[in-house]
Amino acid sequence: MTRRIAARDGLFMVVTVMMMAGFTAPITAQVPEEYTNLKVLPEDISRRQLLTIMRGFTRALGVRCSTCHVGEESQDLSEYDFASDDEATKRTAREMLEMVQSINENVISSLVDRGTPEIEVGCVTCHAGRRRPTTLLQELTWAAADGGWEAAEALYHELRERYYGLGTLNFGPRTLEDFATGLLRADDLPGTLAALELNLGLYPEAANSWALKGQAHMRSDQPEEAIAALERSLELLPGNPRVLQVLERLKAGGD
Ligand code: HEC
Ligand code: HEC
Repeated sequence: MTRRIAARDGLFMVVTVMMMAGFTAPITAQVPEEYTNLKVLPEDISRRQLLTIMRGFTRALGVRCSTCHVGEESQDLSEYDFASDDEATKRTAREMLEMVQSINENVISSLVDRGTPEIEVGCVTCHAGRRRPTTLLQELTWAAADGGWEAAEALYHELRERYYGLGTLNFGPRTLEDFATGLLRADDLPGTLAALELNLGLYPEAANSWALKGQAHMRSDQPEEAIAALERSLELLPGNPRVLQVLERLKAGGD
């Protein structure tokens, strides 16, 4: 009895370990070995090669097989209709695949002085883990157009929570500075200051953010705050001629 339980426990462990270590093995067996609707990939591609490419797609775009193939997440992969072209995403992916092949074969391959090893374009080059490859600045700009600075700020936090450190979006100080510059140009002074406050909370030593903050205060008729911000910018990046110029003018009492 004890031995039987032990044996069963042992079996259970073996299965668990297999599932963790060779997680992909059972999935492989669920996928057919012959393909009926390959238009870009070679028809006689091996299952192993095909799956390497397909898994590459899922990782490069941060999606699942069911994003492009007819099938439900809850279903076994053996029930998927992989050959079907019903999903628009699959048809898009096929065009993308042709585009990538063409870039590598017709454009990059003819460059002179290619480095070693030669770098090829892949889905990840643009997608970097997301289904729609946008920049953070684009995302913030769209959000602000829809819901103002508050919507942009909420999105910034949400995206940062999800993607920070993954190399997917640029969370460095430049993004919010560029965004704030756009708001400043549009004369949205409260929005500019709010964006810079968020940036300076994250990057207190971003000289350019202090300089922009100085400009926003200046335009908001807040000369003292403007001077303080510009001086901070100069401490961090001494000798910046543009900042020096504005500061001199401010101190002389003009605007
Ligand atoms: C981003 C979209 C995308 C994702 C995600 C994706 N595939 Fe595909 N898959 C394709 C495209 C496009 C083709 C067709 C390629 C061609 O025409 O040469 C294809 C073809 C296939 C085929 C061959 C079907 C046939 O009979 O012609 C199989 C099998 C397959 N995929 C399995 C998978 C599996 C398993 C996953 C998840 C690990 C997956 N795919 C994820 C886009 C995708
Ligand atoms: C040169 C950059 C670039 C490369 C490389 C690239 N893509 Fe894209 N892809 C885009 C852009 C840009 C869009 C979004 C277009 C839009 O929505 O306006 C997109 C959209 C898609 C979509 C549609 C997403 C959706 O939700 O509708 C799929 C699927 C896709 N790409 C798959 C791939 C696959 C698979 C590869 C690699 C074979 C790839 N892409 C390589 C730029 C690229």
